[in-house]
Amino acid sequence: MKVIGSWNFLIRLAIICCQLFPVTESSSVVVTQENYGDIIKSNDLVLLTFYVDWCRFSKLLEPIFEEAAAKVREKFPEDGRVILGRVNCDTEMELANMFNIIKYPTLKVTRGGVIHREEYRGQRSVEAFVEFVERELSDPIKEFHNISELQDEVADGLVIGYFMSKDDEEYLSYRRTARVLRDHCRFMVGFGEVSKDLHPPGKNLLIFRADSSSINHKEYYSEYSGNMTSIQELLYWTTVKCMPLVREITFENAEEVTEEGLPLLLAFYDKNNMDPVREFKTVIQSEFADENRINFLTADGARFAHPLFHMGKTKADLPLIAIDSFQHMYVFPKFADIHKPGVLKKFIEDLYSGQLHLDYHMDVDFDEEKNNTTEEVDVSPPVVHESKFKDLMPSKHRYTLINRTRDEL
Ligand SMILES: *[C@@H]1O[C@H](CO)[C@@H](O)[C@H](O)[C@H]1NC(C)=O
Ligand SMILES: *[C@@H]1O[C@H](CO)[C@@H](O)[C@H](O)[C@H]1NC(C)=O
Ligand SMILES: *[C@@H]1O[C@H](CO)[C@@H](O)[C@H](O)[C@H]1NC(C)=O
Ligand SMILES: *[C@@H]1O[C@H](CO)[C@@H](O)[C@H](O)[C@H]1NC(C)=O
Ligand SMILES: *[C@@H]1O[C@H](CO)[C@@H](O)[C@H](O)[C@H]1NC(C)=O
Repeated sequence: MKVIGSWNFLIRLAIICCQLFPVTESSSVVVTQENYGDIIKSNDLVLLTFYVDWCRFSKLLEPIFEEAAAKVREKFPEDGRVILGRVNCDTEMELANMFNIIKYPTLKVTRGGVIHREEYRGQRSVEAFVEFVERELSDPIKEFHNISELQDEVADGLVIGYFMSKDDEEYLSYRRTARVLRDHCRFMVGFGEVSKDLHPPGKNLLIFRADSSSINHKEYYSEYSGNMTSIQELLYWTTVKCMPLVREITFENAEEVTEEGLPLLLAFYDKNNMDPVREFKTVIQSEFADENRINFLTADGARFAHPLFHMGKTKADLPLIAIDSFQHMYVFPKFADIHKPGVLKKFIEDLYSGQLHLDYHMDVDFDEEKNNTTEEVDVSPPVVHESKFKDLMPSKHRYTLINRTRDEL
């Protein structure tokens, strides 16, 4: 009996040892369906690589990611700050689905327990990963010590907190919110005397401010009136302010925007005349606040001259609205019609019912038959062209490691 007992003990010890010293000397953490909840909830930042063993790019990334994980662990040894984890998508299909993984390896980020739709799209080198973690873990909020500092901020979207003190629970909620949305707004804070005259006595205040010349913000000024300790409420308000329904597309964010896979409704504008942009945004916000099947974008006609050219348009034709479905581009016949209630909505509905595409083919068919047009055909069916924005979707060759010259980004 005694002998058996000690064998049991030894076996248990051996198992514990193996857990303490795993056979593979990896620094990243294996993340599974079972442990992912705990891991993302208990860390400020989690960077996950979703890989499969049979993928060449995954194999190339592996040693780089492991080295980065080791460096990160050395720099930030405290519990609860950061984890670099890896998910084997062949065995963790549910997790891969949950994170919408469509290519390997994909790098995803969670902050303070919040899973982000966007991926890590930076360089895939040890240095870049470490820099990313350092930046993420730095304070997302800039403190100001004199109100005059606020004037200097280029306010594309600025959230300012006037708090009584740093250990205020409400300030901790603000910090968590700022950590999640740091890429979408700038966050500032002033404590005590500095902001004393700017908020009601005995009460913290949070405001959102944007430069009135900024084209993509819903409102230029507003005050938060919700519960300051409720992360959900704070996140919701800040998201609405910092991530407007209508976004500006640029070459920098094009991959991210296009990879969301939603058709794009684009308003091409001339930089010298921003009124149509404001009109477009007003219409979108009043008619499409709940529309989530489409991405609403504004595009500088000079930067995106190529798709315009492809549609047979030039600067002289601006402003111009078009849908890009990633198969075709459909031109909205007349910009001024956005002010007629329901007209733009019908244009979008027609895309979903297939009518836009149908009109296109019917148009072609009639062209071939030359004859017999019937009244059923739209008087002016939208002009259809091949998609140009699909060219901005993630490239098949974007998994190049380290050597950026071969990256097609
Ligand atoms: C704040 O800055 C302004 C302008 O730079 C200066 O005149 C003022 O004295 C400063 N106030 C304090 C409290 O430092
Ligand atoms: C504010 O939110 C916190 C956290 O969700 C909650 O505990 C508290 O009761 C709320 N306060 C009010 C006044 O609703
Ligand atoms: C098409 O219409 C023309 C007259 O507009 C007629 O001469 C021709 O026969 C018609 N063709 C067919 C195929 O119906
Ligand atoms: C058009 O087609 C219809 C039947 O589809 C036919 O009755 C009509 O005569 C045609 N009109 C012309 C102008 O060809
Ligand atoms: C990157 O790749 C290009 C083309 O393959 C090569 O010419 C260049 O020298 C490489 N640069 C570095 C830093 O390795």
